[in-house]
Amino acid sequence: MAVLVTGGAGYIGSHTCLELLNAGYEIVVVDNLANSSMESLRRVKELTGKDFTFYETDLLDREAMEIIFEQNEIEAVIHLAGFKAVGESVRLPLRYYHNNITGTLVLCQLMQEYAVKAIVFSSSATVYGMSDSVPISEDFPLSATNAYGRTKLMIEEIMTDLYASDREWSIALLRYFNPIGAHSSGKLGEDPSGKPNNLMPYITQVAVGELTELHIYGSDYPTLDGTGVRDYIHVVDLARGHLKALEKVLSSTGVEAYNLGTGRGYSVMEMVISFEKVTGQHITYRMTDRRPGDIGICYSDPSKAARELGWVAQKGIEEMCEDAWRWQVNNPQGYNKEKPLLRAGI
Ligand code: WQD
Repeated sequence: MAVLVTGGAGYIGSHTCLELLNAGYEIVVVDNLANSSMESLRRVKELTGKDFTFYETDLLDREAMEIIFEQNEIEAVIHLAGFKAVGESVRLPLRYYHNNITGTLVLCQLMQEYAVKAIVFSSSATVYGMSDSVPISEDFPLSATNAYGRTKLMIEEIMTDLYASDREWSIALLRYFNPIGAHSSGKLGEDPSGKPNNLMPYITQVAVGELTELHIYGSDYPTLDGTGVRDYIHVVDLARGHLKALEKVLSSTGVEAYNLGTGRGYSVMEMVISFEKVTGQHITYRMTDRRPGDIGICYSDPSKAARELGWVAQKGIEEMCEDAWRWQVNNPQGYNKEKPLLRAGI
């Protein structure tokens, strides 16, 4: 029996596949490589010494997806495949709804047809919208402020309806806070295409000289130092949270949401200071205006995952910085040796 990992070649996916293999699971990976590279999967095989079947397939290709269920005995699905750039989703909503929602519908319809009723879904803290109180727990009101967030919210509701229609389903909705860092080997990591939107890859590219300076979006938030506060979680902790959720959906039915965060918020400035302390690199930065759509403070109450999944994040901010830096230094062009260095274009 195998676990099907959709989006398994991506940043979260590759780290999750590695943990699954190391825990003894048989996996099957499907990814259309729109936002990822086969190289990450080659390295997962190298790091674990284990092999697995990979299908370069789009979830929207129902025929090709059905072949996966025909050819493999799938016992559960970890569903990570989806577009995830907030800004892009505002510019291209139809692309996001089609890819994320329709892709999920095709997957769930096939799961139903093949009586595979255990799924772990990659949701996001973005479903809490512009929550103005912290720490955030799973019973907080849900809303979305962009198409990307609305796809996550809609998929959570689709899965809730699915369980209501058939109580044999086992569904875990994992609400990620801010995943950063990389596998300690320096062989797996975050490989954004073009200029990074997210904070940590931007910092590491400034540190290595790819980018000239970090723009800190807003210094007038009601926080310790005025800069935005987020709940950063090491990607390996996040991956291990998927294994605990998988154990749950393989052992009991129901539909439950879980925050995957540390329960600790750090400001942008605290992150910069931690990064400089751990790596000895200097980060040039400039305070600029707030980024539209940003909230000031966001961090989780992760106690439900501790109680019900037996999962608690273990890695601290310094290890997140250390591992992110090692990945950057070892892989200046990410997974793609042909990728032009931004430095050349500055
Ligand atoms: C973190 C903090 C910024 C970049 C996003 C998505 C969310 C999830 C994770 C998918 C904020 C500040 C950032 C920069 C900065 N993605 N910042 N300069 O916005 O919390 O969450 O990524 O699931 O859905 O919304 O993450 O890393 O972009 O920002 O000052 O160049 O760093 O203002 O305070 P965010 P982020």
